[in-house]
Amino acid sequence: MEITIFGTGYVGLVTGVCFAEAGYNVTCFDIDERKITALSQGRCPIYEPGLEEMLKRNLENGRLQFTYDSRLASKNADYIFIAVGTPENEDGSANLEFLEDAVDQIGKYLSRDAVIIIKSTVPVGTNQRIYQKLQGIVPDNIQVKVVSNPEFLREGSGILDTFHADRIVIGADDNEAGRAVADLYKPFGRPILQTDVRSAELIKYASNAFLATKISFINEVANLCEHTGANIEDVAKGMGMDVRIGSQFLRAGIGYGGSCFPKDTKALEKLTEDYEYDFKILRSVIEVNSRQKQQLFEKARELFGNLQGKRVAVLGLAFKPHTDDIREAPAVELIARLIEEQADISVYDPAASGNAADLFGSRLYYAENVDAAIKGADIVFIVTEWPQITQYDLERFSLLMREPVIFDGRNCYDLANAESAGLTYVSVGRKAVNVNRNLENSRLRG
Ligand SMILES: NC(=O)c1ccc[n+]([C@@H]2O[C@H](COP(=O)([O-])OP(=O)(O)OC[C@H]3O[C@@H](n4cnc5c(N)ncnc54)[C@H](O)[C@@H]3O)[C@@H](O)[C@H]2O)c1
Repeated sequence: MEITIFGTGYVGLVTGVCFAEAGYNVTCFDIDERKITALSQGRCPIYEPGLEEMLKRNLENGRLQFTYDSRLASKNADYIFIAVGTPENEDGSANLEFLEDAVDQIGKYLSRDAVIIIKSTVPVGTNQRIYQKLQGIVPDNIQVKVVSNPEFLREGSGILDTFHADRIVIGADDNEAGRAVADLYKPFGRPILQTDVRSAELIKYASNAFLATKISFINEVANLCEHTGANIEDVAKGMGMDVRIGSQFLRAGIGYGGSCFPKDTKALEKLTEDYEYDFKILRSVIEVNSRQKQQLFEKARELFGNLQGKRVAVLGLAFKPHTDDIREAPAVELIARLIEEQADISVYDPAASGNAADLFGSRLYYAENVDAAIKGADIVFIVTEWPQITQYDLERFSLLMREPVIFDGRNCYDLANAESAGLTYVSVGRKAVNVNRNLENSRLRG
């Protein structure tokens, strides 16, 4: 049985490597020749814990191969997973160009019956359209079926999530094809939910929208804490202890980012517009998040007025720890505003500096560690809760910075510790510490 994966990004590569690890013969294809060359040599182009070792192991045992030839990838495959990107169009809708191209290639070169499995996140109705499209491309003697299999892995724990998925969703209008894909997943031993195609497509968007709602909700509560004097950590803990609510995704912060929540919430909003349905909560979730992403910068403005010429360190660039992905990361928006403001900016991230350098080039100083980033700084912004940042010795801020002023978008430090280390410390939904200026009417008054 031959499995092929189209797209070797965060999802496609993890899927391919994990299926090889589970014992299948897997061929991965990508249009990015550089990626394929690196992967063929056992080098992982993305940062994902444990992936490179598993990649090497399965290259060596011969179960995994990479190709830049779409004909080779398609012609003998029994199962073809499509995991290409579906980024955001300017109007918020999902851009399906990569998917359409992949389907064209597959249709052109298929030489035997195959099941095409769409793992990319796509709007309701897409699988059906792709099926119809393929019927028009493949020769009559070849039977092709299309199955929806949305992905739920999290970057930074992709392998763990694949082997311990809460559920595997398989959407098929053809029972036999759905069962065949369910059988493929048997070695993983995880719960499988089989649905019709449209429901599977919507499960993915609804899940991401719900998680984004939880984040925006707790961020709104955090903002209310700043106005009322309550402490968001205690409030979130008290809420999360209720099993009906659950404690996950109740961490207030600088807003959600990444390659999924922002684009998927917008694509779902666009989909609801297409159906002339007004999904009110979803609109608010998106609006709250875009406001939340500005909060840290606005607080610094409130405290300092103009940031022009200030030496500013941004700690954390990735949209979350343990990944190098900076797509829609709150740090990117913050840095853009700091550049506009003509601040003098140094940054530190254990994995994402390379991606940030592609975006910002020489406008930033890329430090090797926290010490180097904060040395001589007037202000520190904490944007990603990497352990190197959360476990940093607070005394060193006072030691190395010109004045230890920290704006923490991830509530990394205990307020009492920040206070005793002499930091001016402004976090999210908690009282500001050691703010000595006259801010009588401000939420930063402490
Ligand atoms: N990243 C995540 O955490 C995550 C989680 C769940 C679902 N998803 C969804 O999975 C899909 C893939 O996301 P990603 O983050 O892996 O994307 P990515 O941008 O990291 O990777 C996409 C890959 O597809 C390749 N590609 C583009 N066109 C191609 C073609 N015609 N043939 C073969 N390869 C092609 C690109 O070169 C790239 O390597 C998206 O729809 C995304 O929404 C992502």
